[in-house]
Amino acid sequence: MNKTILCIGAGYVGGPTMAVIADNCPDYKVIVVDVNAERIAAWQSDTLPIYEPGLKEVVERARGRNLFFSTDVVAGIKEADIIFVSVNTPTKTFGAGAGKAANLQYWEKTARDIIEHAESDKIVIEKSTLPVRTAEAMHRILQSNTKNLNFDIISNPEFMAEGTAIDDLQSPGRVLIGAMEDASGQKALEAVADIYRNWVPEEKIKKTNVWSSELTKLVSNAMLAQRISSVNSISALCEKTDANILEVSEAMGMDPRIGPRFLQASIGFGGSCFKKDILNLVYLCEFHGLPEVAAYWEQVVLMNDYQERRFVKNITSCMFNTVADKKIAVFGFAFKADTGDTRESPAIYVSKLLLEEHAILAIHDPQALEYAKLDLADCEGDISYESDPYKAAEGAHAIAVLTEWKEFRDLDFKRLYASMAKPAFIFDGRNLLDHQKVFEIGFNVYPLGQKVLSHL
Ligand code: UDX
Ligand code: ADP
Repeated sequence: MNKTILCIGAGYVGGPTMAVIADNCPDYKVIVVDVNAERIAAWQSDTLPIYEPGLKEVVERARGRNLFFSTDVVAGIKEADIIFVSVNTPTKTFGAGAGKAANLQYWEKTARDIIEHAESDKIVIEKSTLPVRTAEAMHRILQSNTKNLNFDIISNPEFMAEGTAIDDLQSPGRVLIGAMEDASGQKALEAVADIYRNWVPEEKIKKTNVWSSELTKLVSNAMLAQRISSVNSISALCEKTDANILEVSEAMGMDPRIGPRFLQASIGFGGSCFKKDILNLVYLCEFHGLPEVAAYWEQVVLMNDYQERRFVKNITSCMFNTVADKKIAVFGFAFKADTGDTRESPAIYVSKLLLEEHAILAIHDPQALEYAKLDLADCEGDISYESDPYKAAEGAHAIAVLTEWKEFRDLDFKRLYASMAKPAFIFDGRNLLDHQKVFEIGFNVYPLGQKVLSHL
């Protein structure tokens, strides 16, 4: 077995994962390829294609030493014995399962590239999130090669979260490796585990069968999203009962069986994974004749949509039942703080609903403005994009906080208030700000799941 690793797909998963592997495994040569030449050029430059704290340092340490970026997929396949596949697996938009099932066309294309160009046995690793039992289909495709080559398929899902990708990869809670149960599969599993053993303690390397590994990835995301939808549903009840969602979350989370993390009420979860993976799970349950299980998980997504709609409804009703021709400063467009990523960001949906109500939007985000422009490119209405938050708020009737960027807390709210139309409103969709402080400045403050602070 040679020590060359290839990763097909240089996106949010492939790029950072391979950079951390190369950094920790100087004995391995790591090649990352992508069909997108622009993306590869960015990985080779000083301006990486994704923003992730600490990523640049890791890439700069390893790049040119044992980490290489290239568009030459064919040469990579020929050279490497271990191939990670982290191409995109979006939700299908057509045919059977449209809107729910994963579109596996990029994955299958990659498998076919591998059999066409491979000249030696390979270990092929599913790094992208895939429906359970994809490995079976992929294994069949790969074994259909007529060159008498052996392909082992391994599931090694990635659990890192954006914004903390480098820390998560450097100190993972677990590395999950699923393999076929025959001797060849088990040998491949050990070869993959050997890579991680360079920096991950043995007890954190969890070995399972390949189906458990595939399913664990989907269910982990579904369980995390379920916590958020649960807490968000209760935020609505808090607003009706004077209970405070922060107190409820904190007190609940003190039970070690529940735990304190992922109980932050919000306008809703976003990101490229949660919705996609739950819908994928829902489709799998339907496909396997389990409609009750499917409906149970689908409710997590429906509750998320409800929370986003509820937020906009609240804005409209508090602003005297109309936002038409009123400027609203949207603070934050990324799906969460510390990332420039806006995929499935609740801000997209909230902005579209506000535009339908004929609000005038001034959008500010420290990292995500370029993507915001693309996300709203097809929308009609008055939208401006401001890199300066004070400009965004000038003349606005309201500020809507949609992403929990810490720097928003340090803004000069007296200055913001002075420049805004009165009465001035803050709708804090992330419970981020010091509500008492901004209330005393003069704002009418609408947090989530907490008491309204109003001068009206
Ligand atoms: C997620 C999983 O956490 C990660 O393990 C998986 O590999 C990929 O999907 P990511 O989408 O990057 O990671 O972000 P995450 O931190 O999980 O946040 C997802 C969304 O949930 C964000 O919109 C965030 O703002 C929201 N969220 C998170 C809440 O609304 N409340 C919380 O308490 C936590
Ligand atoms: P993720 O968040 O899962 O990493 P991304 O969309 O960020 O997803 O990245 C997936 C990458 O895979 C994209 O850059 C895309 O160009 C690349 N890709 C898709 N199909 C192929 C293929 N057949 N060969 C090489 N790269 C591919």
